[in-house]
Amino acid sequence: MNGTSAAPGCAVPVLRPVTLVTGASSGIGRELAMLAAREGEVLWLARSEAGLADVASAITAAGGRASKLVSDGTAPDAVAAIMAHMARHGMVCDQLVNNAGSGLVGLAEVIDPDAQLACIDLNARFATALALAVLPGMLARGRGGILNLGSIAGFLPGPGMSVYYATKAYLRSFSEGLRQEVAGRGVRITLLSPGPVNTRFLERATGGARAAETTVFHVDAERVAALGWAGFRAGRAHVIPGLANRLLVWMAPLVPRGMLAAMILRQQSARREGA
Ligand SMILES: NC(=O)c1ccc[n+]([C@@H]2O[C@H](COP(=O)([O-])OP(=O)(O)OC[C@H]3O[C@@H](n4cnc5c(N)ncnc54)[C@H](OP(=O)(O)O)[C@@H]3O)[C@@H](O)[C@H]2O)c1
Repeated sequence: MNGTSAAPGCAVPVLRPVTLVTGASSGIGRELAMLAAREGEVLWLARSEAGLADVASAITAAGGRASKLVSDGTAPDAVAAIMAHMARHGMVCDQLVNNAGSGLVGLAEVIDPDAQLACIDLNARFATALALAVLPGMLARGRGGILNLGSIAGFLPGPGMSVYYATKAYLRSFSEGLRQEVAGRGVRITLLSPGPVNTRFLERATGGARAAETTVFHVDAERVAALGWAGFRAGRAHVIPGLANRLLVWMAPLVPRGMLAAMILRQQSARREGA
């Protein structure tokens, strides 16, 4: 029994459409998974078991249908294993939320090179590999969509967090390109670019030096997810939660790039030192 079911008199297995949410054990991904579960079945994924059980009970308590999968997005065989899991359980990816991501605050010359390359593997390679695996099926069915988690970092130079900013610039370019390629074929591609959000992200990125900040740019994870999900469902190209973040993205090109980079380096240095 492989979990698929067949319609009477039909040899073709009927696959259940699911929304696959990566990095769904905490923060923005958790909120996105909860929203997706209000509309249909969700397969949520994270690197460790911790957090997934909590999301499971929250979704089930809200009457949703969901299942979890523990997977490290930096593992070379991650996408093949996810696709095999879905096939085994009779699922087809109708919507993909490429949310899993990590960053490291510090000078590139100082941070462990392998850790920096792992960020590229997760933020860029894993997201791309998943998109490439599910997009042909979506196009064949003429429905579905991919929501990529970018960042306002994707619009800015990123000294003090160079690799992370570069991965988000990549995701921005990838999303814009894909969107144009699939235009008019029933598949939505949306880029969600939050500014700072108080999740576990910052604590991990600073090695515990900073856990939370409050500035005019901060928007909470629930609101970021709500705006992102609504924009995605409406087929919008791009969602930037928070007026201050939108203004920053609009005005950044007016500031000399070198000046902007120097300001960002000062901010990241203060974060690293926990100032
Ligand atoms: N927080 C911000 O300020 C901010 C701003 C702009 C954009 N973003 C983006 O938003 C997304 C979500 O971040 P968040 O703020 O919600 O952070 P978070 O609370 O740290 O959540 C990150 C999620 O990604 C998962 N994850 C981490 N490494 C993984 C791996 N190797 N394989 C699979 N899953 C992995 C984590 O699961 P485990 O706990 O099991 O590892 C967790 O579920 C990221 O793409 C981030 O770049 C965040």
